[in-house]
Amino acid sequence: MTNHPAKFSKTLYETLIETIRGEQNVVDPFAGVSRIHEIAELAEVPNSFGIELEQEWAEQWTNTPTRQTVTGDSRDLCEILQTHNIQTQCFLTSSTYGNRMADHHTAKDKSTRNTYTHQLGHPLTEGNTGMMHFAHNGQYETTHQQIWQQCHNHLNTNGKLILNISNFLRTRKTPGPRSPLKQYETITEHLNNNKIRVLCQPTLWHTHTLQQIGFTLTNQQHTKTRRQKQGANNNIRAPHETILTFTKT
Ligand SMILES: C[S@@+](CC[C@H](N)C(=O)[O-])C[C@H]1O[C@@H](n2cnc3c(N)ncnc32)[C@H](O)[C@@H]1O
Repeated sequence: MTNHPAKFSKTLYETLIETIRGEQNVVDPFAGVSRIHEIAELAEVPNSFGIELEQEWAEQWTNTPTRQTVTGDSRDLCEILQTHNIQTQCFLTSSTYGNRMADHHTAKDKSTRNTYTHQLGHPLTEGNTGMMHFAHNGQYETTHQQIWQQCHNHLNTNGKLILNISNFLRTRKTPGPRSPLKQYETITEHLNNNKIRVLCQPTLWHTHTLQQIGFTLTNQQHTKTRRQKQGANNNIRAPHETILTFTKT
């Protein structure tokens, strides 16, 4: 079985369950190893469907008539849902955060790397946001924008999109390349050797992007989880995950 580095945290389940209770069907366009089905079951949502780009992760779920995961690229979300005859008014997902878990170079040392690429054991498929860094070269933003637009296209008015996301800290050299998304980064500390520590805020970026597409933010919850322990910033990681609920208006 291939490990997955970023499954829905069990400490989020209680909150996530309440966000989808009463729905008939829930779809996760970034399904990973399909915890969406367990959450749907606990919320008594009768049908659930996941889309995951990496076959090894998608196939860890054994499909049933009401709970299925398929291997596919959510940039083609509308087409995939149509092919499988899925009609939903609720998306629940955790996108990648664009932090160091997106590193995909070959490590020079033997330290633990809890990244998407290292856990999968080979390069990710083209289009996988798990190798895209937030506020770096625009790929992370363009790909998410495309997928959020597809979710919006599929939903009727009042349909929901629930997103689990988190801000994170990044260490940067200064002077370095100017970030194209400066408004989503705040310097928190000046370090030695011309380095700075920056708080990156994909939470805010996703909120603004979804609002531009035509969603309204209707609820926002912060939950503490056990964050990954490895890495240089392990003592000062942003302490909470955020669950944002958007409604198509
Ligand atoms: C944060 S993880 C989600 C984990 C999931 N919530 C779980 O409990 O297993 C994001 C997942 O999205 C997948 N992914 C990234 N880009 C994708 C795309 N374009 N289409 C479909 N899946 C994608 C990644 O391979 C990764 O497994």
